[in-house]
Amino acid sequence: MSSTQDLQKIIAGRRAAEFVQDDMVVGIGSGSTIAHVITALGERVANENLKIVGVPTSEKTRRNAAKLGIPMYNVDDVDKIDLTIDGADQVADDFSAIKGGGAALLWEKIVAFNSRENIWVIDQTKRVPKLEQYLPVEVIPYGSEQLFKRFTADGFHPTWRLDQNGNPVRTDSANFLIDLHLPVIEDPRALGEELIGMVGVVEHGLFTDVVNQIVIGHENNVEIIKA
Ligand code: 5RP
Repeated sequence: MSSTQDLQKIIAGRRAAEFVQDDMVVGIGSGSTIAHVITALGERVANENLKIVGVPTSEKTRRNAAKLGIPMYNVDDVDKIDLTIDGADQVADDFSAIKGGGAALLWEKIVAFNSRENIWVIDQTKRVPKLEQYLPVEVIPYGSEQLFKRFTADGFHPTWRLDQNGNPVRTDSANFLIDLHLPVIEDPRALGEELIGMVGVVEHGLFTDVVNQIVIGHENNVEIIKA
């Protein structure tokens, strides 16, 4: 990643953290952009005595936020989530997104759909007219070879998500990830419904009808778009 892109993630992440107010229950996303949100929130907790409760979208986020003094609760231990701030891999003009590059898509979707408001933080490289990058799908390990064959037969060009040792990546729910390599996704809702209807698919990385605002880092400024 270029240092320009990293800078865009930093300024966008820090700006997004300003949306958080006292007494909020905050869903906290996953990934390198959200790392900057966590840092900024940690600073606000320490310096401004900001009082919040966090709900993590991954075990890594739980650890990193807790280290900075943010009290972390499971999604089932809170009555409501006021605001969730998360990253995305791509965001299209129709405000659909692909998520899951960091393997956290299932918890991210659960937290997002239980949140009153959702903000995505991205750098400008992630804005596209239509979604067109690999699509992560979280699958139950049992029967996943059969599912992989079906994805192949359906022309989805699947690949296993593997770790550095060549073993399947395990999500925080101990599932596997299969990445689908598709041409431009013309109808994310229809594709999402097709995938969720396949036995063994736990969740897919297509997020539609979720986001309220997008915070976009550019070279010298931050743009905020309401969905
Ligand atoms: C993790 C995600 C992340 O939000 C997405 O991959 C963006 O990550 P980064 O900010 O590191 O580019 O969906 O599952």
